[in-house]
Amino acid sequence: MKTAILGTVMKSPLAPAIDRRRFITACGLSLAFYTVPGAFAEELIRTPRQTEGPFYPDHLPLDTDNDLIIVNDSLTPAVGDVTYLSGRILGPSGEPIRGALVEIWQCDHSGAYLHSRSGQSAQRDPNFQGFGRFLTGSSGEYLFRTIKPVPYPGRTPHIHFKIKEHGKELLTTQCYIKDFPGNERDGIWKGIKDEKARDSVSIDFAPIKESRTGELTARFDIVLGMTPEA
Ligand SMILES: [Fe+2]
Repeated sequence: MKTAILGTVMKSPLAPAIDRRRFITACGLSLAFYTVPGAFAEELIRTPRQTEGPFYPDHLPLDTDNDLIIVNDSLTPAVGDVTYLSGRILGPSGEPIRGALVEIWQCDHSGAYLHSRSGQSAQRDPNFQGFGRFLTGSSGEYLFRTIKPVPYPGRTPHIHFKIKEHGKELLTTQCYIKDFPGNERDGIWKGIKDEKARDSVSIDFAPIKESRTGELTARFDIVLGMTPEA
């Protein structure tokens, strides 16, 4: 069985082969690198609430860790552009939120969700976990290894997020690929009327220079505190 400790199970972006121990070490380093102090509260854009959509898994997978590329102890990774997706969960004043449960879900490379009513289900990639969780520590950082999202009929590429604390839902939202042409035609993306708020959920998926296999990195900080009416 894959170790079920949230936030510790993944592989290094620099490791060419599957090696979980090496990932744990690299994970610590990358989190230190990304924890940059100095953000001013007045500059923070509160992350807009967005619809949960119809495809939050109706049956959670047995494996719900933060590595969506490998299901349990499978040797076959998911198909897709491997992406290290990380960020911080912050309060309205920029304070890191410890103990936040970050959940993500997204479709696989062919457009299939982990949901009984998903389209493309016959083509579903059995090696893509489709859903993952991460419990933040004192830095508020989260980290997932997943695939770069792809479009499916009616939607521009996106990854769904739900943030919970002590079992209570704090925020449901989505992030997008910055400058992806389909964003402009996506009703949910366009539904975020405030341009700065829209920019805040549209993120870069950038190649990792040291990666020999073309892995990507993406950062999505989430600032809590948006009221449902806002
Ligand atoms: Fe979706």
